[in-house]
Amino acid sequence: MLNFVRGIPTKLYFGKGQICHLAESLDRYGKNVLLTYGGGSIKRSGLYDEVMNILAGHGFNVTELNGIDPNPRIESVEEGVRLCRENNIDVILAVGGGSTIDCSKVIAVGYYYEGDDLWDMVVKMNGPAKKALPLVDILTLSATGTEYDAPAVISNMKTNQKLGRMYIWPDVSICDPTYTFSVSAYQTAAGSADIMSHIFEGYFSRTEDSDLSDGIAETVLRSVMKNCPIALKEPDNYSARANLMNDSSIACSGIPEYGKQGTGWPCHAMEHELSAFYDITHGTGLAILTPRWMRFILAKDPSVTGRFAKFARNVMGLSGDDDAKLAAAGIDALEAYFRSTGLPMTLTELGIGMEHFEIMADHANDGSFLKDAYVPLTNEDIVEIYKACL
Ligand code: NZQ
Ligand code: ZN
Repeated sequence: MLNFVRGIPTKLYFGKGQICHLAESLDRYGKNVLLTYGGGSIKRSGLYDEVMNILAGHGFNVTELNGIDPNPRIESVEEGVRLCRENNIDVILAVGGGSTIDCSKVIAVGYYYEGDDLWDMVVKMNGPAKKALPLVDILTLSATGTEYDAPAVISNMKTNQKLGRMYIWPDVSICDPTYTFSVSAYQTAAGSADIMSHIFEGYFSRTEDSDLSDGIAETVLRSVMKNCPIALKEPDNYSARANLMNDSSIACSGIPEYGKQGTGWPCHAMEHELSAFYDITHGTGLAILTPRWMRFILAKDPSVTGRFAKFARNVMGLSGDDDAKLAAAGIDALEAYFRSTGLPMTLTELGIGMEHFEIMADHANDGSFLKDAYVPLTNEDIVEIYKACL
């Protein structure tokens, strides 16, 4: 097992009714709040009114930034920074999914940025940031883990770039599973695929003896595969939504990777290019890529067969003595599972063709980044994986 540092500064309130901690969480930073949210789901669910009543009841001054898009744009960051500066904001309150919270992390850091070009800040960001406005969030979608991690991902559609960087951990995250009852079947399935991908990106590593990390990883995968289908059938099943929310926070927190060799997170590198060029849903892109990436690396480097057989046994519940057969069957079972959740499973279904594969591979492998992946990937390998997704 390798050395690691453990330390997640976010205070996370989990469960029904935890919004009772909202006012005290904000109050310690001041009275001027920037409330950020997306395209209106929080208005339709009633959460917006609930939040505004609490803020009004405790004398907060509220400035709003709404309309943050899925795959949040640099323009929303620019607008948020401007609003913070003009209104002497003390604390940001993000209410929504990963896009709203990510955008808010970058606003919090951008507030102190002295240059003119916030996109340049994103490109050069090498966090965690030393200085930022405090961030409190209320999570409404179980997927990214941004509520309990430091990265944020921002897109520049003019340059077809989507860049993930470390910024800040939220100071406080309020995670009430009832706020996810209104998430559509499609976003529930896509978010669940994202949670699973965060686990895969660390699980398929060269370190074989980090037992606790592997055990946590396998448990999260089994939990998602049990609870996502329940949430799809019964959107207001508290237990299913609660398990997915807990899985979300742990999966991207670093905990399932402690003690393990880094992997370069290849599926995320490849997916961010799909989102950057085609603005697709992150979890959908990952569900399409993951089984194809798995088959490709298994064929390229059979030394990974044992780990795939372990995945097949411990996660997919398969048995048998032939590791090679088991490894292949585990990947097939995973693909069948993703399909059963209703997600599109080819790029063709999303209207994506081969025209940008070379440039996307070049971006995903920027600086030969994926030469240190679990199984190293060249640009040509990445193009092959994209082609297998058509
Ligand atoms: O915009 P609104 O109206 O709120 O609707 C959203 C959006 O249309 C809707 N939604 C959210 N909560 C809802 C709801 N609809 C009904 N009821 C609710 N309770 O769902 C749609 C998708 O929302 P979004 O925030 O985009 O989804 P997600 O949480 O999956 O975030 C995706 C973004 O996070 C990045 C992704 O790349 C993508 O940009 N990621 C961030 C990571 C991180 N910070 O650590 C890691 C991830 O790997 C990922 O890259
Ligand atoms: Zn992800």
